[in-house]
Amino acid sequence: MSLSTVQRAEAELLLPTYDRHPVMFTRGRGVHLWDSKGKKYLDLLSGIGVNALGHGHPAIQAALSRQAKRLIHTSNLFFHEFQAELAKELTRISGLDRAFFCNSGTEAWEGALKLARAYAHAQNGNGNNTKWRILALENSFHGRTFGSLATTGQAKYREPFAPMLPGVSFVGLNDLDDLKWKFDSSVCAICLETVQGEGGIRPVSPEFLRMARELTKKNDALLLVDEIQSGLGRTGRYFAYQHYDVLPDVVTAAKPLAAGLPLGALLTTNRVAACIHPGLHGTTFGGGPLTCAVAVEFLKQLKLRLPHVQKVGTYFQEQLAELKKAHPAVVEVRGLGLMLAVELDSADLAKAIVKRLMDEGIIINRTHDTVLRFLPPYILEKKHVDQAIRALDAAFGALAPKFTQSRKKEIKDENLDTSEVVFANA
Ligand SMILES: Cc1ncc(COP(=O)(O)O)c(C=O)c1O
Repeated sequence: MSLSTVQRAEAELLLPTYDRHPVMFTRGRGVHLWDSKGKKYLDLLSGIGVNALGHGHPAIQAALSRQAKRLIHTSNLFFHEFQAELAKELTRISGLDRAFFCNSGTEAWEGALKLARAYAHAQNGNGNNTKWRILALENSFHGRTFGSLATTGQAKYREPFAPMLPGVSFVGLNDLDDLKWKFDSSVCAICLETVQGEGGIRPVSPEFLRMARELTKKNDALLLVDEIQSGLGRTGRYFAYQHYDVLPDVVTAAKPLAAGLPLGALLTTNRVAACIHPGLHGTTFGGGPLTCAVAVEFLKQLKLRLPHVQKVGTYFQEQLAELKKAHPAVVEVRGLGLMLAVELDSADLAKAIVKRLMDEGIIINRTHDTVLRFLPPYILEKKHVDQAIRALDAAFGALAPKFTQSRKKEIKDENLDTSEVVFANA
């Protein structure tokens, strides 16, 4: 089927939830994808941080086809071989004690929120004064289901679906005073992404994370850390919180866990897990034999890749920093490992850069309007970074002057408008 046939059919048949690029991929190998017209692309996005081992990794393909031939689904009413094996490895690499498996990031985060409330209820046998408030961060993103939406600190995602789950307050990212001010003994959890992903690759500061840990510990509340985008090697450590000297009570992971198959995980301590009993939480599909067998293989491969992520990530960030020196439209370069961002001074410029790179066969993404986001596969090589940097350098050179000038004019017009308003009001 051609791209235009698929486009027409989707326009009639699907909910219009996505504004897709007019490209249809049909094949992938390593860091490359090919579209239906045979054009080759360098993939610097990995399906939004999912295809961490690239496309068609032989060990993943082997694990997938081996398990697909044996057993795909059992339900969680029965045992299979791989949940315990996967939990053993995830608890080892995270420093936590227990796991729960589900199907997606948002489902893992829902589980984390439920755990915080269940823990608060369990701490308070007589039912009085149970902690219930949740502090989440402004600019955060935790997913599209209701609990996740309610804790997502961006009104554009929440407001169309209001009213939200009650009891959630938002704290400014890295604002210690705001955190202190909003935390009290009614709070059952502080929620954060170690590095805000969709919010533009913004790491939490060590001071903020330390304070969140201290406040929750002193008050028997939980620290919930969303590592759905930053976890499982993305920042060069197994989990991004391992760059800080802090161990959360609950950690969520998903995206690359089963190398492209849907699998999410919730990790926690024995102390917190004691509030759960059979029937309190569950899922039909989550943690099936196929996804778990593939995830076991993914974690084996990840172990071999971590030093490479650190090395190539550092190189990539250094090269992006060089671009910043050469192009005034680049406001900031941020990130850790292979979770990187370039913030530009114009949303239109960012949009035009993504389109130009796509036309040239390089896939990147724009988030938070002005931020170019890079989440490449962990098998990325220096030569691929060089290719991307050359393309970005040329794109900034060609497009930035145009957008910078129109942005300057916009600002000038806005200023003129403002002075008129002030005059009219005076
Ligand atoms: C930090 C974070 N949390 C949660 C989610 C939601 O994950 P999913 O789309 O698998 O539900 C995402 C997805 O981008 C994410 O980046």
